[in-house]
Amino acid sequence: MKVQLNGVSINYAERGLPQGLPLVMVHGFPFNHSMWDDQMMALPQDIRAVAFDLRGFGESEVGDGQYSIEFFVDDLIGLLDHLGIAEAVICGLSMGGYITLRAAERHPDRVRALVLCDTRSEADPNEGRIKRADSVRSVKKNGVKPFADQFVRSVLAPATLERQPAIVKRVRSIVEGNTPLAICGALLAMAARTDTTPSLAAIKVPTLILVGEHDKLTPPSAAKTLHERIAGSQLSVIPEAAHLSNMENTSSFNEHLVKFLKSL
Ligand code: MLT
Repeated sequence: MKVQLNGVSINYAERGLPQGLPLVMVHGFPFNHSMWDDQMMALPQDIRAVAFDLRGFGESEVGDGQYSIEFFVDDLIGLLDHLGIAEAVICGLSMGGYITLRAAERHPDRVRALVLCDTRSEADPNEGRIKRADSVRSVKKNGVKPFADQFVRSVLAPATLERQPAIVKRVRSIVEGNTPLAICGALLAMAARTDTTPSLAAIKVPTLILVGEHDKLTPPSAAKTLHERIAGSQLSVIPEAAHLSNMENTSSFNEHLVKFLKSL
């Protein structure tokens, strides 16, 4: 389904009973809502699950390619308004987690609970910003494919790369399906994001933190920081997974997610 939000057309999918507990899933970079397919299918009917494509990704409009985490947050809140959802469980993976944490900081009244997957609250350090700038230069010069080759290797666990060719293929095809404009826009948005660490202590809603045991981009140590600073949060490390824990070890990820949602 499509809705016009803040000047661009945003694509979303919905599943479950309309009166169920609302859950909105925010994908990572540079993916789209289909990265949540294995969760959407596994969730009980009494969860009103929504997964959407951030501007620039999947079937949402690319627009002018000038993105900010604030715009992504505005689109998320706009989607809640459009769907008549006052408060939702917000689940974000990696960049989706940056967006989720910023949404919780700016709009705490819209958050029923949080699921923070393979993410962190800190902004990029200096060297991270320089690396993002290098990636922007490289994507503009060489296109998406070389970026995708390197990116796929950095997000998946060695065991996934070796033993789960279908997942490797799926991830590669999602990454390669993006436009250079959207990739560069999102890289610059991530480089400019705020540090949400100071606001973690203000989070009072139930929070589940999930991280792949082999995640190198947002490692278990970053998840531990979130856990220590969000009072009452639960942390689970997903075995045999790296940065894409929901895709690499779906059964373990779903087990934790469903148990958490049932507890609310
Ligand atoms: C993501 O998976 O969303 C990104 O790799 C996060 C990042 O680059 O910081």
